[in-house]
Amino acid sequence: MSKKEQNWIDQTVAYVKSEQQGESSGHDWWHTYRVWKNAQYLASMEEGSNRIIIELAALLHDIADHKFHGGDLSVGPKVASEWLQSLQVPAAIIDSVSHIIGALSFKGAQVKDQMESLEGKIVQDADRLDAIGAIGVARTFAYGGHAGHEMYDPSLSPTLHTSFEAYTSEKSTTVNHFYEKLLLLKDRMHTASAKRVAEQRHQFMETFLTQFFQEWEGKA
Ligand code: ADP
Ligand code: NI
Repeated sequence: MSKKEQNWIDQTVAYVKSEQQGESSGHDWWHTYRVWKNAQYLASMEEGSNRIIIELAALLHDIADHKFHGGDLSVGPKVASEWLQSLQVPAAIIDSVSHIIGALSFKGAQVKDQMESLEGKIVQDADRLDAIGAIGVARTFAYGGHAGHEMYDPSLSPTLHTSFEAYTSEKSTTVNHFYEKLLLLKDRMHTASAKRVAEQRHQFMETFLTQFFQEWEGKA
């Protein structure tokens, strides 16, 4: 990475840290930090990917998430683009990064992902690795508490949503979110390296849920 590129990264780290530090729904600076690290690892395993696009997209991917902006998917790419323009990053890089951020989010169990570039696939895998495993469990309960959702209600069944609108507007419980998103992610990873990591993290969530339901019914 050139000195100029390293400077863009350093400044973006400081910016994202100041914006996301202390956030309590699981979209805090440390989530972004882990996604950035995951993305660097996946990039090192996938030949021919553009490192600066991957790192900038990973760092800026949750700078203005739709969930905190009334469901508007265009705010994230816009805020990221404005930031990168202020650093005088070339337009072609800004376009790639903002395109990735706009296409990143999970939009429902039955809604197909629309990620075309290898860089986008790597960042999407990196973000999704942080949605599963032990950290995935922790973030999901943190989010549920933040959003005021019930932890679990055995009378409510999960829904495999067919639209982004339904996925984001229908009321659900935190445990149902595992069935509506988290347990589906291992089969939606793009890169071979992310698939491998996801397999083990997926198993951990299955173990967690088995024990959760046993304890729910007072079984040892
Ligand atoms: P994406 O990164 O695909 O946009 P989100 O930002 O919606 O995904 O979700 C990131 C994490 O936030 C999820 O993996 C989960 O831990 C938590 N989360 C989001 N929506 C919910 C929900 N309805 N219930 C519980 N956790 C949620
Ligand atoms: Ni994220």
